[in-house]
Order: sequence, then C-alpha cells, then structure tokens
Amino acid sequence: MSRTLFRTKNVEQSIQDTEEPEHALKKTLSALDLTVFGVGVIIGTGIFVLTGKVAKENAGPAVSLSFVLAGVVCALAALCYAEFASTVPVAGSAYTFSYATLGELPAWIIGWDLVLEFALGTAVVAVGWSGYIRSLLDNAGWHLPAALGGREGASGFGFDILAAALVLVLTAILVLGMRLSARVTRLVVAIKVAVVLIVIIGGAFFINAANYKPLVPKPQAVPAGSDLRAPLIQLIAGWAPSDFGVLGIFTAASVVFFAFIGFDIVATTAEETRDPQRDMPRGILGSLLICTALYVAVSIVVTGMQHYSDLTVDAPLADAFKAIGHPWFAGVISFGAAIGLTTVCLILLLGQSRVFFAMSRDGLLPRFFSRVHPRFKTPHRPTVLLGVVIAVVSGFTSLSELAELVNIGTLFAFIVVAIGVLILRRTRPDLHRAFRTPFVPVVPVLSVCASLWLMLNLPTETWLRFAVWLIIGFVVYFLYGRSHSRIGQEQRAAVRSAGQPGNDTV
Ligand code: ALA
Repeated sequence: MSRTLFRTKNVEQSIQDTEEPEHALKKTLSALDLTVFGVGVIIGTGIFVLTGKVAKENAGPAVSLSFVLAGVVCALAALCYAEFASTVPVAGSAYTFSYATLGELPAWIIGWDLVLEFALGTAVVAVGWSGYIRSLLDNAGWHLPAALGGREGASGFGFDILAAALVLVLTAILVLGMRLSARVTRLVVAIKVAVVLIVIIGGAFFINAANYKPLVPKPQAVPAGSDLRAPLIQLIAGWAPSDFGVLGIFTAASVVFFAFIGFDIVATTAEETRDPQRDMPRGILGSLLICTALYVAVSIVVTGMQHYSDLTVDAPLADAFKAIGHPWFAGVISFGAAIGLTTVCLILLLGQSRVFFAMSRDGLLPRFFSRVHPRFKTPHRPTVLLGVVIAVVSGFTSLSELAELVNIGTLFAFIVVAIGVLILRRTRPDLHRAFRTPFVPVVPVLSVCASLWLMLNLPTETWLRFAVWLIIGFVVYFLYGRSHSRIGQEQRAAVRSAGQPGNDTV
C-alpha cells in the first residue's frame, strides 16, 4: 500500500512524456516572456488593494516591513523553485517535481493544492478587477444594478457579471494559444508598471513625515468572539488576539503575501520555454526582484501620503491621490489597476490549466483532459472546464477570505518544493541542474521554516477551510487517481508480463 502511495515518476520519463506529439505543448517562450509573465501576474490585487487594508487594520506604516518579510519568504522559495524548474522542465510546477521526488500521493496533494491556489486566485483577482471597472463606470455616470455588482458585503441574490465575463473572455484567449496571450500580456504589463511608477514618483512629492508616526502602532486587542479570525499562532501560543504591534507586522505579511503569488507560475510554463535550463531561473528570480522593489516603494509612499488610519480599503492607491486633491492621478491609477488585474487573471488561469493538464496526462485525473487542441496546440479542455467553474465562483463570492485560502495553499506548496529539493539532491545527485539552489541544506530548511511561519500567522478559520479542501482531495485520489494512475498501470502490466501475480502493492 505505502509503495503505491509513494511510487515516483522518474524524471527522464516526465521529460519524455512532453515529447509525445498528442500531448506536447509548443515551445515558444523566452526568458523575457517569462519575466513579463511573472511581473504580469505578481503585481495585482495585492499591491493595488491589500496594501491599504493591512496598513489600516494590521500594521500601520510598518506595512512596508511586511512586504520585505513576505518578499524574503518568496525569495527563499524562489531559489528552490528555480532549481526544480530547471531540472524537471515539464508542465505542472511543484506537482511534477513532487511526483519525481516525494511520490504519487504527495504529488496529488500538491497538484490539488495548486489548482485551489490558481483557481481561487483567479476568482479573487477577477472580483477585484470588477470593483475597479465599476468605480470607473461610476465616474462616467453609468451604474450597474446592485444584483449584477460585487458580492463583498452585499445581501440577497446577486451575480458579479463583470468578474464572470472577464474570466470567460480570458479563457477564450488562452484556448487560442500561448503566442497571443504572451503578446497581450506584454502590452498590459507595460501599462501596469507605468502606473505603479506614477504612484511612486508622483506620490513621493506629497509625503508628510508626520504620517510615519508611529511607525509601529501599539498592539490593540481584537473584539471578543472573533477567535477564529485570529492567527493560529496567537491561539496556539495562548496570546490574546491583537492587531498592530510587532505581531501585526507578521499578520500583515501573511496577507500581503498574496501580492507575491505568481512567480511560482513562471515555473508551470517550463515545458513551453525554449531553453528552460537557462531561462527559467532568470525569469523567476528577475520578476520577483522587480516586484519586491516596487512594492516596498509603493507602500512607503502611500503610508507617507495619508495617515494609515485614513487609507481606504477598496482602492487605497487611487484614493490617496484623491485625498490630496489630485483626482486626475486617481483616475489614471484606477484605469491602470483595472488593466493590470486583467493580466493577473490571465496568467493564473494559464497556471491552473497547466497543472490540471499535467495531472490528467499522468492519469490521476481523466486522460480526456490532456489531449491538446489539434490546431492551437493548447490544453483546451481543462482550460474551458476550469474557466467556466471559476467564472461561476467569481460571480457568486466575495474576495477577502478567499485570498487567505489562496495564501495558505501556496505556502504549503513552497514547503513541499523545498523538501523536494533536499530529497532529489540525495536520490538523484546525477541529474543535470542548470540552476543549483545555493547553501543547501540551509536555504531549503530556511524556506520551510519561513513559509510555515507565515502560514501560522493566517487566521485559524483559513486552516480549517484548507483542511476541508485537502480531505476532498484525498477522497478523489482514493476513488479515482490511485487506480487510474498511468505509472501504477504500467507497473501492474510489467508485473503481469513478468508472470508474477498482480497486486495493488506494486
Ligand atoms: N500577486 C497577485 C496579486 O497581487 C496574485 O493580485
């Protein structure tokens, strides 16, 4: 039994699978494409929306420190991701890597977890996008009926029509092919970065040093009865749940971590990269570095422009400019944010369809989903299926708690990847690694500890929801994936042809 659950897929076989014509993706992406993809998905709801929320509710002006902390956690994980992406350059990211190192069940769990991350992440960003578009429409005097607007804080039946429409249009673009989506992404990323630079450079002229006091606001007890919203670490350690103070900086870091999600998705496109050995590490580390610098600068500027307690929660960057009497800047920022969130959605959608595709190619999900489109050479079936599901989810749900669920899933994946790097170094020291994680085992061990620390700073209820998702995953695996696994079937066939009695412990 345990041999079934921990059977591994050998690395050469993973690479060979991608070369079967029926299941092969086109290799079109360069290091620049990957960096653009990375920046395109990394800068989004996190910086445009969550900065204001966590500064106001958790960290005050020290939110810039939270961005630094979250950036360090991601850099450690990126060093591990870069090694595996350049060693196992096939679609599926952490999923593929775990299959080659930890075994089938851990790989299934991580794949299931990544689908959650990318699918819910897409929904979160689509809802954020819809908010910005509605705000622009409102400026122009056009108001959508409440039933077709956002679900955050709304009562009664309603459907966020804009969020759902965005997801469906982007799904169609992805089905038409990588080349088109890479071009669209490049243009949109340029607009988004320009807007972020406008915030940093324009806003720097309006910084009032008095707004930085206190840099770390005093801890404040949270209202009684909201224990499940308290970070798990505070409950475990028996600390009275509180916001602000030093602990608030960590809480904020675990939330703004969402702003960094995306660099790992660069790794999911390894199979479509011309020279993954060289380009993958460049793409991952380059995009992460650019974004960390921009985030820290934006958060310093915005908390300097307005006192943290006055920042708004929906559109803090634009509203900070309104507050100092520059609505024109605010309009440009809102427009850029709406455009920028489009690419985030596009790339999250791309990432999840590729993980789903890889799992199906391995037989853990129906093989029906791993036939590429005869003309466009894209995995159109998982793209359409998940696109429609996400469109429905984004139409009916609000985003705040979903973002925390996305974070816990992603951090969990980081832990598995770091452990996988350690295991593969021992079990397959012979493999060619175009990029080697420095200071092994120190960096992977630090990556595990740092990711776990951020997870512990997420709300207790987020842990409970994550546990439910994993349990559903176990059920699907034991009812379907285990018996349909391609590796398992091949091993059983080999045993039969060798004339030995087949059994499920193979
Ligand atoms: N990092 C992406 C964002 O901030 C997911 O929206």
